[in-house]
Amino acid sequence: MKFFADTADIAEIRDLAETGLLDGVTTNPSLIHKAGRDFIETVREITSFVSGPVSAEVVALDHDEMMREAEVLRRIADNVTIKVPLTPDGLKTCAKLSGEGTMVNVTLCFSAAQALLAAKAGATFISPFVGRHDDIGFNGMELIADIRLIYDNYDFATQILVASVRHPMHVVDAAKLGADVMTAPPKIIHQLFKHPLTDSGIAGFLKDWEASGQRIG
Ligand code: E4P
Repeated sequence: MKFFADTADIAEIRDLAETGLLDGVTTNPSLIHKAGRDFIETVREITSFVSGPVSAEVVALDHDEMMREAEVLRRIADNVTIKVPLTPDGLKTCAKLSGEGTMVNVTLCFSAAQALLAAKAGATFISPFVGRHDDIGFNGMELIADIRLIYDNYDFATQILVASVRHPMHVVDAAKLGADVMTAPPKIIHQLFKHPLTDSGIAGFLKDWEASGQRIG
């Protein structure tokens, strides 16, 4: 499973990149607003040290304007992935960009039917939002299982990018279902490390090591 950071905060992304666990980055207009910096400059800086896909989202709603915005964004770097909403114009844009060899992330997916459409439009990634799905009383993981089944039935190459991840079990459950990628806020990726038995185990070993009076090297 690939790990993407769902943030536009450069310091957080750098920190994760140093762990060697980071495969890509996703941004959206809300995350850009939160970071408080120029959109194009932020995406350019991220692509200067992240070699995997970096999603940058168009904000236009019609195809022609989406294409114009995508043109600006994909010129930033080869690994910029254009994020489009799951609408008829978004998928028209997806088909055009994919045909030109540009990676596309279709976002705001909330149903298996929508995911099927995105795959037919040649999306590189489909982003089902599991957290927001859970919020309104659905089961986000059932959506992931349905999309996995459909994509495998037809050998679609579109990668399932689990988004709107809210806690470590979303990551584990998505991995059990065979999702290709997950994107999460850095805080959740750091939470994946945590286990109280790891902490108490280290404390016990260090105490005994100290009592042994030995040194390494
Ligand atoms: C995905 O690419 C989105 O940026 C993100 O996962 C949305 O998550 P949220 O529901 O926490 O805003």
